[in-house]
Amino acid sequence: QKNGYETFMEKEIAEQPFVIKETLRSRIEDHILMPELDDLAMEDIHAIYMIACGTAYHASLYAQYLGREWLSIPIQCVPASEFRYGNYPVDEHSLCLFVSQSGETADTLAALKACKKKNAKTIAVCNVLDSSISRIADTTLYTCAGPEIAVASTKAYTTQLTLLACIMLKLAELAKVEVNGYDQLLHDVKALPETIESMLGMEEQMKEYASFLKEQHDAYFIGRQLDYVSVLEGALKLKEISYVHADAYYAGELKHGPIALIEEGTVVIALATQKDVASKTISNIEETIARGANVILIKAKGVHSDKIAHQIEIPDIHPYLACLPATILLQQFALWSAKEKGCNVDQPRNLAKSVTVE
Ligand code: F6R
Repeated sequence: QKNGYETFMEKEIAEQPFVIKETLRSRIEDHILMPELDDLAMEDIHAIYMIACGTAYHASLYAQYLGREWLSIPIQCVPASEFRYGNYPVDEHSLCLFVSQSGETADTLAALKACKKKNAKTIAVCNVLDSSISRIADTTLYTCAGPEIAVASTKAYTTQLTLLACIMLKLAELAKVEVNGYDQLLHDVKALPETIESMLGMEEQMKEYASFLKEQHDAYFIGRQLDYVSVLEGALKLKEISYVHADAYYAGELKHGPIALIEEGTVVIALATQKDVASKTISNIEETIARGANVILIKAKGVHSDKIAHQIEIPDIHPYLACLPATILLQQFALWSAKEKGCNVDQPRNLAKSVTVE
């Protein structure tokens, strides 16, 4: 049931504060509570692989970033369709983490089976109880997003980000790593439901920005560091439901080719929530403005440029969590672009909710 919303996607976007709260239930006190991982001997782990498809792959990229910051173990994120045919040195000292909303995605399932065969330790992050992936993995941690009906993933993604932040904090604890700013981070994780709730009120603004795409066939998303994960997801959401061609680039890569695409009126969605690299992103943005780009900037407090006409600020939050509020804005942007173009938001062409065949 759509509970009065016009589409399931709108309902699912609105549910995010609640499902994030459910995902965090009993997970946080003054440290992360994750008894499922208590027996994991991190000293035996020599490599971590994160394997998933589509939006779940973007969630894995987020976890990879946190893992790189905190763990001194090599960590690699690979799309499942590549992993299953690639030659990765997986063995009993590998920890393989699979992220899947449905728990039935063919490529992710095949990669999981291959890793089990090589005696790797396997952890799944799933949303569906008793799904194939959750039954085969050594341990499954569940997101509590509830059923996701719209083909384009929204609440499953943000619950994955939330749970993966907790998992990576738990792995850091097991590896006896001291995480800088741990208390602040934990505080901001706990406050995520309220932070996300406050983002829902920004919909009108994103609706207006989405109207910039009315006459456009392309949109370019740019960001650095963790913002790159968000722009990948923002571009995917936009192309899958509104059929606007969208690409995501590392902001610093623009001048190595993609900037050739920028012309008068080109829509660029830029993210600058990572303060330590924000000034670099701002100069990349200004280079696109000099070539006529129409830029929408999603930024953290304190990041500033007078040259950018359209700016929207996310609430004050630890930079490692800024992806969550930023993603809500990008979901609304895609949603309204699709609605404006009269697209079937819940069932985009050529796509299935669960990809159970290769
Ligand atoms: C995009 C989307 C897909 C899925 C992908 C993996 O909005 O929903 O990219 O994320 O097909 O599906 P799961 O998570 O079920 O393995």
